[in-house]
Amino acid sequence: MLSARAAVRSMKEYHPPLAGRTGLRLDFNENTVGASPRVLEKLRQLDAEQLARYPEREPVERMTAQFLGLQPEEVLLTNGVDEAIQLLCQTYLEAGDQALIVVPTFAMYELFAASTGAQVICVPAQADFRFPFESLIERITPKTRLIAIANPNNPTGAVASAADLLRIARSAPEAAVLIDEAYYEFYGATLLREIRALPNLFVARTFSKAYGMAGLRVGILAGSATQMKMVRKVASPYNVNAVALACLPAALEDQGYVDRYVTEVRRGRERLEEKLRQLGIKFWPSQANFVLARIGALAQQFVATMAGRGILVRDRSSDPGCAGCVRITVGTAEQMDRLMTALEETVQALGVGERSLV
Ligand SMILES: Cc1ncc(COP(=O)(O)O)c(C=O)c1O
Repeated sequence: MLSARAAVRSMKEYHPPLAGRTGLRLDFNENTVGASPRVLEKLRQLDAEQLARYPEREPVERMTAQFLGLQPEEVLLTNGVDEAIQLLCQTYLEAGDQALIVVPTFAMYELFAASTGAQVICVPAQADFRFPFESLIERITPKTRLIAIANPNNPTGAVASAADLLRIARSAPEAAVLIDEAYYEFYGATLLREIRALPNLFVARTFSKAYGMAGLRVGILAGSATQMKMVRKVASPYNVNAVALACLPAALEDQGYVDRYVTEVRRGRERLEEKLRQLGIKFWPSQANFVLARIGALAQQFVATMAGRGILVRDRSSDPGCAGCVRITVGTAEQMDRLMTALEETVQALGVGERSLV
C-alpha cells in the first residue's frame, strides 16, 4: 500500500475555519474592505490571451524589487508568505535538523518545517507574550537550520526589537532566519535593509493583509542574492499566477490607498483597545491589524454570539498559552462602530468582564 513519508504521516492537519464566512470578517486579519480600485480595474481588463499564457514573474519581480529598494536577485515573488515558508523549509531543512519557532505563532512554520522531517522546537513566549530572546538564543544548536519569527507576531500582536532579531541572526549563521513581516504596514519597522549584511537573514512580506489581496495569493521573500539563488531553484517558475501578476503593479502604484487604510486601522486598534480596557477584558497591546483578548471560559459562546450578530472573530483558545483568547481583526471606523456596539452588548449579555482578567 502506498504510504506517505513518516514525517507527513505524523503531521497535524490544519483546517482554518473558512466555511460560511458571511458578515463582517474580523476573523482572518484580512483587509476588511478589499483591494485598491486600481487593482479591480486591472482585473476587469484581463483578457483570454493573458489567461492562456504561462505567467511571467520576472518583470513584476523587478518592479517589486525596485519598490523595496532591492536588487531583483534579492527578491522572489511567492504564492503568499505560505509558499515562502515552504520554500525555505525545502531549501534548508533535512530530516533530523532543528527548526526553532516562538509560540504561540502562525501555524504554517511548524507544518512546513515538520513536513521535511526536521524536529520543530517550540520556544514559549515570555509572560504577556513578550519575545523570549534569552530562551530562544539558548535553544540554538549546530543542528538549528531554520528560525522563523513573525514580527509582529500572530496571534499576539507582540513585536521583537530589531536588535534582538539581529543578534539571533548573528548567533545562528548556519540557520536560515526568517523574519515574517506579514503585518509590516501596521507596525512600520523592518529588517529588509539588513539582508545584505546578514546572508542568513530572510524577510517575508505579503499582499494579503494591508493590500487586501489575500485571494490573489502574492507574497515576497527577500534575502541575500547568494541564498535566494538556492531558494529560487525549488520554486516553480509559475508559482504566482497571471491574474496576481497583472494586478500587483497597480497595487504597488496605489500606496495612497494602503496608507489611508493603515491609518484608519491604527485608529481602530486604539479604539478597540480602549473599549476592552473599559469592559475590563484583558488584552495584549498589538502592533498589527488585530487584537488578542482574553474572554475566558465563555470564549466559544462569545464567538458564537458575535457571529449571530454578523461579526466573525476567531477563537484562539487552542494556541499555546491562549486558553480563553479570541482574536479580533481591526477594520475601518464604520466597522469598528459596529464592533464596539456588538462587543459591549455581547459582553454584558454573557457576563464576560472583570472575571476574565487574569
Ligand atoms: C504571520 C503571518 N505570516 C503569513 C501569513 C500568511 O500570509 P499569506 O497570505 O501571504 O500566505 C499570515 C496570515 O495570517 C500570518 O499571520
